[in-house]
Amino acid sequence: MRKNIVAGNWKMNTTVPEGVALAKEVNEALANYTPKCDVVICVPFTHLCPVCGVIDQAKLGLGAENCADHKSGAYTGEVSAPMVQSTGATYVILGHSERRQYYGETSETLRAKVALALEYGLTPIFCIGEVLEEREKGIQEDVVRDQIVNALFQLDAEQFGKIILAYEPVWAIGTGKTATADQAEEMHAFIRRTIADRYGEKVAQDCSILYGGSCKPSNAAELFAKPDVDGGLIGGASLKCADFMGIVKAFD
Ligand code: 13P
Repeated sequence: MRKNIVAGNWKMNTTVPEGVALAKEVNEALANYTPKCDVVICVPFTHLCPVCGVIDQAKLGLGAENCADHKSGAYTGEVSAPMVQSTGATYVILGHSERRQYYGETSETLRAKVALALEYGLTPIFCIGEVLEEREKGIQEDVVRDQIVNALFQLDAEQFGKIILAYEPVWAIGTGKTATADQAEEMHAFIRRTIADRYGEKVAQDCSILYGGSCKPSNAAELFAKPDVDGGLIGGASLKCADFMGIVKAFD
């Protein structure tokens, strides 16, 4: 059966010392408490090694926020999946809307990234979601289906089974405007049906689908109570230990 997961996406925030301090705080909060979900933090590349040294990965998973679409070579400034793996991290966010919007990521580059992440044993947290204009036109399901089909449906069922999905409506990211629990459930159920059509009911039922976009302690419980919402990918609220743990505790 699928896992419930709360994952933080720190984005481009915190210096290394600040990030190590935050990771330690979250690690300590988890030391004497058993959450009813997996907990993961995804941090900037520069933070992976030092954070890896201060957390207990049996309780707190560690991930990168991106990886390159090549294994190695003359790609100045890029960081590859084997490099991420060598830090000790085991997750990687791929296809975040900010990467698609500001850095031109396409389904084609994402197919390469997903393949490399899987080859190096990293669990992709693959992001999908429509922009406001697409929701206003009522085409959000088509957009999300295309994102999934074009970047992931070349995978075989075993590979697809290793993917975590994160539905992040772009209009809800960092805006304070959360999707309602009903809007999230409607899309998550659609995503699960889309997976079932391609890979069958078991693969669909086993896939964790997280919600992301202005998720906070005050709205997490209502979102996570929905049958197809299996947790959250948390931006702003993952930068404060108390807020992040408040979201983790929404599963209690
Ligand atoms: P916020 O929680 O800050 O809206 O960000 C969501 C997000 O983009 C997580 O990947």
